[in-house]
Amino acid sequence: MGKFKINGGNRLYGELKVNGAKNSVLPILAASILNEGISVMHGCPKLKDVYSMIEILEHLGANVTFKGRDIIVDARNVKDSEIPDNLMRTMRSSIFLMGALISRNKKALMSFPGGCDIGHRPIDLHLKGLRRLGIKIEESYGYIKCEGWKMKGNEIHLDFPSVGATENIMLAAVKAEGVTIIRNAAKEPEIEDLQNFLNSMGAKISGAGTNTIIIEGVKRLHDTEYTIIPDRIVAGTYLCAAVITKGELTVVNALKEHLEPLLSKLRETGCSIQTGNDYIKIRCDKRPKAVDMVITLPYPGFPTDLQPQMVSVLSVADGTTIVTETIFDNRFKYTEELIRMGADIKVEGRVAVIRGVEKLMGAKVVARDLRGGAALIIAGLGAEGTTIVEEAEHIDRGYESIEKALKSVGGDIVRIM
Ligand code: UD1
Repeated sequence: MGKFKINGGNRLYGELKVNGAKNSVLPILAASILNEGISVMHGCPKLKDVYSMIEILEHLGANVTFKGRDIIVDARNVKDSEIPDNLMRTMRSSIFLMGALISRNKKALMSFPGGCDIGHRPIDLHLKGLRRLGIKIEESYGYIKCEGWKMKGNEIHLDFPSVGATENIMLAAVKAEGVTIIRNAAKEPEIEDLQNFLNSMGAKISGAGTNTIIIEGVKRLHDTEYTIIPDRIVAGTYLCAAVITKGELTVVNALKEHLEPLLSKLRETGCSIQTGNDYIKIRCDKRPKAVDMVITLPYPGFPTDLQPQMVSVLSVADGTTIVTETIFDNRFKYTEELIRMGADIKVEGRVAVIRGVEKLMGAKVVARDLRGGAALIIAGLGAEGTTIVEEAEHIDRGYESIEKALKSVGGDIVRIM
C-alpha cells in the first residue's frame, strides 16, 4: 500500500514520452491467443494491469516474455479455457478473454470481472452480442459458461457503443463462419488498434473507427509483430499537470488526433498548444480560465478517463464550469478528496459544478480509483504545501512509475511506504 508525497508549487518543464496504451495492449494481449503461434507486441507499458493479463495468459498455457518494451506471446500451448476467480477479479479487462477463448477453444468458463469502482459495470451488452453469434451462455452462481461450437456471423446492434462489448464481439467473430456486422460500435482509437493487430495476423476486419465494423470470418491466423498506439489518457494526464503548474511540457509519442477533445478544452483555458506528427507542446503562464462546459461522451467526445484530471485543473480556474459525466454513474467520488484540498465542487448525480478557487492546499487524500487518483496527483502538484495521496496501487494500474516521470520534469513527488 504505497503513497505519493507531493510538495506542490513546482512548475513542470521539459519533455515526457508516452508508452503504448493500456486500453490497447490489454485487448491485444487477449487477442494474441487467437493465433496458435507467436505474437510480438512493441511499445508495451509496464503496468500492473498488463502484468495481471500476462498472469492469466500464462495460466491458460501461453508462454509470455516481457523484455524491454516488447511482449512476446507464444500461444501454441493454450489448452485451458477456465480462468479462476482470483485472476478474473484483478481487473475488468479479464473479460476480453471471454471472446478470445471462445474463438480459440470454442469454450470459456470464468467469473464476473473486477475493476475500478466508478459505478455499475455490467456485461450484458457483451453477452447479448456473443449470443447473437450462436454462443451458448449460462450464468450461474457468479460464473459464466460459454460454448461456441457452431459460431456463425450475424448482425449485432449495440444498444450503447460499449468499448469492451465491441472488442469482445470482434474477438469472438474473427473465426466465426460468415460475416459479422457490429452496428453502433464504439469508435475509440483502441478499437482501431485491435482491428489492425488482428488484421496483421490474418483476420479480415474493416470499419473500426466508424460505428459499423465488418468481420469476415477466417479459418486460420498467423504469427505477427505489431506496435501498440500511444496512450492518449497518459498523455492527457501530463498535459493537465502542465496546466495546473503553469508549466511548459512537450509530450512525445502523443497523437493530437486522439487528443483533440481534451486539447480543445485546454485551449479554452487559455494555454498555448503546438502539435507535430508525434508530439504535443503545451505552455501555460497564467491561471487557467473556466470553460463553457465539459460533457463526457463516447469517442470522439470528451473521454470519461480524462474527466477527473480536467476537474483538478478547473478547480483552480478563474470562473465556474459545469462538468457532466454521461458514461459512468459514480465517477465523481474523487471530488470529495479535492474538496479536502480546498476545491469548491458541488456534485448532484452525474453533474458537478466547479467554482474555481485561487489555490488548492496540500492535504492527506485517498486515491479510490485509477483516474481519480491521477487527478489527486495533479491537484497535489498545483497545490500549496504537502499532499499525501494514499493507495498508490490504483494509480499504478494505468501509469508506469508516474512519480519518476513527473520528477524528471521538475515535480517534487516521491513514493513512500
Ligand atoms: C473502456 C475502457 C475504460 C473507459 C471506458 C469508457 C478499456 C480496458 N477500458 O471500459 O478505461 O473508461 O471504456 O470509455 O478499454 N455498459 C453496460 N453493459 C455492458 C457494457 C457496458 O451497461 O455490457 C455500460 C457501462 O456500465 C458504462 C458504459 O456502458 O456505463 C461504458 O462502458 P464501456 O464502454 O463498456 O467501458 P469499458 O469497456 O468497461
